[in-house]
Amino acid sequence: MAVGIFDSGLGGLTVLEAAQTRLPEVPFVYLADSAHAPYGVRTADDIYDLTCTAVSRLFETGCDLVILACNTASAAALRRMQESWVPEDKRVLGVFVPLIEAMTERQWGDNSPPREVDVKHVALFATPATVASRAFQRELAFRAIGVDVEAQACGGVVDAIEDGDMILAEALVRSHVDALKRKMPEPDAAILGCTHYPLLQDIFQDALGENVRVFSQATLVAESLADYLTRHADMAGAGDSDFLTTGDPRRVSDRATQFLRRQITFQSA
Ligand code: DGL
Repeated sequence: MAVGIFDSGLGGLTVLEAAQTRLPEVPFVYLADSAHAPYGVRTADDIYDLTCTAVSRLFETGCDLVILACNTASAAALRRMQESWVPEDKRVLGVFVPLIEAMTERQWGDNSPPREVDVKHVALFATPATVASRAFQRELAFRAIGVDVEAQACGGVVDAIEDGDMILAEALVRSHVDALKRKMPEPDAAILGCTHYPLLQDIFQDALGENVRVFSQATLVAESLADYLTRHADMAGAGDSDFLTTGDPRRVSDRATQFLRRQITFQSA
């Protein structure tokens, strides 16, 4: 049994990489639902069904704890899964809360009433489905007051990354940042609310300007997972690490190797 990490495609590798660095002794099984990526243009019902199928596959490999390293699945499916689908002896966690806790300067599990925080104008970059869910604004409202959020649905960016077309991905990021700045000229923080986007973090930072603090999830989620595992040591598991995909393993391995700059070999899920 290992810890499962799930994404629609390659974006969750940014979370896996940070988790492996933070927790070198923990085995991880990564599952990319490449055959159905991108999720960000799908309906909430579709995302729910696909996410449940993928997480079931990770349970079958022996994972008791699965991290949805996908904001789109976390936004559109996680709450429904936790309320009515996840078996008693399993856990499924998302990637939103660690990010919002960091932005609102809260410790894990601090459920005190919402309060004023330093950041006032936040730019949220995410997939169309994540933006439509308003899950980020909902989670933020539990913790902070007086924060103005402007969301930009970044159509096309995930497809370009999955296709390995980083020139197109960069051009799209710059045009999405421009569109955001027309709505909110001076954000003080930006949230990269899709696990694919850290692969273009420098481009976001450059387009936004150096005064904007860019929050990205990988290290925050890894830190929060480490904290969770100290409280639930039985969930850390043992066994071998593995990479599974519902797509073409050769193609996905090539892209993953290019992104992480080390050899990654996917097998058929
Ligand atoms: N990396 C994902 C996310 O964090 C999924 C993007 C997609 O499949 O559209 O939202």
